[in-house]
Amino acid sequence: MVKIGINGFGHIGQQVTRAAILNGKVQVVAINDPFIELKHMVYMFKYQSTHGKWKGEVEADGDHLIINGHQITVFHEHDPANIMWGSTGAQYVIESSRIFTTKDKAAAHLKGGAKRIIISAPSSDAPMFVMGVNHEKYDPSLTIISTSLYTATQNTVDGPNSDLSRHLYGADQNFPPLSTGAAQGTGKVIPNPHGYDNEFGDCNHVVDLVLYMASKE
Ligand SMILES: NC(=O)c1ccc[n+]([C@@H]2O[C@H](COP(=O)([O-])OP(=O)(O)OC[C@H]3O[C@@H](n4cnc5c(N)ncnc54)[C@H](O)[C@@H]3O)[C@@H](O)[C@H]2O)c1
Repeated sequence: MVKIGINGFGHIGQQVTRAAILNGKVQVVAINDPFIELKHMVYMFKYQSTHGKWKGEVEADGDHLIINGHQITVFHEHDPANIMWGSTGAQYVIESSRIFTTKDKAAAHLKGGAKRIIISAPSSDAPMFVMGVNHEKYDPSLTIISTSLYTATQNTVDGPNSDLSRHLYGADQNFPPLSTGAAQGTGKVIPNPHGYDNEFGDCNHVVDLVLYMASKE
């Protein structure tokens, strides 16, 4: 079983957790988020507008989140250097806080015992690997990598924006919306796919990428 930690329990952190638990070969052993209380983690994980209600068990127990009987240690650290990943057995850390997206910043996770970091967004300097696209180019000498997922953010109603484009308009009435991190990221690994912004990718790809990396240890 490959043990992972999640830094940042927002949209992506929660979806990777769901994907990992459903996959069964990856165990989430720790979650860090300084801004979400444990009782709110339970609620947010259980009820999601987009992905629906979790079809399983989720509860809090002391400092732990228990999901389908799996005990997950919860930290509330602001600085990744203070997260004791090693004490939980987490070897791979999914960096999904939006904050630590460069190699230097993400490297702070190594101090607490993480062995490898996967940044869940395009990074200005970490090499990018996308499952099913270029994952076979991953080299185990790399400690910090980034990956790309589907992402799009748009106003819910029409509103001002410095960019004179679809950014001005509400998501309900205007689809497809904006460029995506995935499209920008994919542009780094496939020559000239620009404009390709409606692919379906999801957090299962992150889990599969971790499993692929683990197979190369
Ligand atoms: N939302 C998407 O569809 C999507 C898709 C692909 C990639 N991404 C990328 O994944 C990353 C996360 O996106 P998201 O949508 O989940 O963001 P989000 O805002 O929903 O979640 C970020 C989480 O990080 C937490 N956080 C803030 N500061 C922190 C810190 N110092 N340490 C630990 N946690 C901290 C926040 O409390 C929040 O829960 C971003 O880099 C984003 O670009 C997002």
